[in-house]
Amino acid sequence: MNIQQAMLQKIEDELKHQVARLDQPRTKHFHEMLTYHMGWTGEGSGIEATGKRIRPLLVLLSTSSLIENEEMGDPNTSPYWLRAKSAAAAIELIHNFSLVHDDIQDNSDKRRGRNTVWVNWGAPMAINVGDALFVIANQAVMDLMEYYPAEVVVKAANILNNSCLDLTRGQFLDMSYEERHDIGIDEYWPMVGGKTSALLAACTHIGALLGNAPETQQESYRLFGWHLGLAFQVQDDILGIWGDESVTGKSVASDLVEGKNSLPVLYGLGRHGKFAERWAQGPITASEVKAVAKLLDDEGGKEYAEEISKIETQKALAYLGNANPQGEGGDALRQLAYKLLDRKQ
Ligand code: IPE
Ligand code: IPE
Ligand code: MG
Ligand code: MG
Repeated sequence: MNIQQAMLQKIEDELKHQVARLDQPRTKHFHEMLTYHMGWTGEGSGIEATGKRIRPLLVLLSTSSLIENEEMGDPNTSPYWLRAKSAAAAIELIHNFSLVHDDIQDNSDKRRGRNTVWVNWGAPMAINVGDALFVIANQAVMDLMEYYPAEVVVKAANILNNSCLDLTRGQFLDMSYEERHDIGIDEYWPMVGGKTSALLAACTHIGALLGNAPETQQESYRLFGWHLGLAFQVQDDILGIWGDESVTGKSVASDLVEGKNSLPVLYGLGRHGKFAERWAQGPITASEVKAVAKLLDDEGGKEYAEEISKIETQKALAYLGNANPQGEGGDALRQLAYKLLDRKQ
């Protein structure tokens, strides 16, 4: 078993342990809504339905790549990265809270190949499921108290809370841009920075904090996560138009139909060609999606976004170089960055 597989197993155990806070008589069905979303129960549950778990992996890999600390591990918490498991779970729970709400906000009916929570139980229930995931995430961070001094736990909680606020700001921009036709590429980055990069940056930042890295090194880890997040969202934009639904598990039509100002779209609008002409005429219908996606591809929208995603990955790797991660965890972080660039899911 390699380090990532070992971590993924511990992450799943810890997530189940955290979500079980809600497993109480009278509200069993509520708990089931959470376990459904997490991919553990209900129709289509299993490995395909859990998502990639890259955020908690980033936390644990960052912690473990500070190898000096591995040597400090005591037998109860060895390997050392195990101490960070509740922080890793907290971030994945925040991510999942944001997905449950995002699917309502984006009117998306599929997530990880299954019905979204709001499709199954309605938006009011789905909002409540998201709220519960959010609260449990904050409780999970407090479990760090078992292994870390209060000062470090407060720092971790602060980083996480700040990234959540940034996430809501990013979501605000994303939704408010839907109504607008005058968005430039310079307005794209604050949206993506908020909705996606803030949380990925929190993963590597908290991971480094929990590995006892000095502040300058924490900053390099943070910036690695930040640029990885930008590359990751650009990739998500590409998959949201040209991805394979059966692999992404999300409806490919929805980004164009919802009028999302994703990076390929913004590039296409800047070309003032046939794509921009069609976009200006009003909402794209589901039956037009294929043709409009082809138009945008022909005008270079996909190629442009792929290039930008590569550039951001290179920046991420440069910061990772500064962070100087060690050992198996360090190698895995580098590999993960390359893998995400090629991802199809
Ligand atoms: C989807 O994130 C939302 C974005 C920020 C792009 P992921 O692609 O990490 O989703 P899962 O958790 O693997 O399903
Ligand atoms: C990703 O939003 C960010 C959050 C969920 C906070 P998107 O709307 O771009 O992501 P997908 O494509 O639905 O996963
Ligand atoms: Mg969204
Ligand atoms: Mg969405």
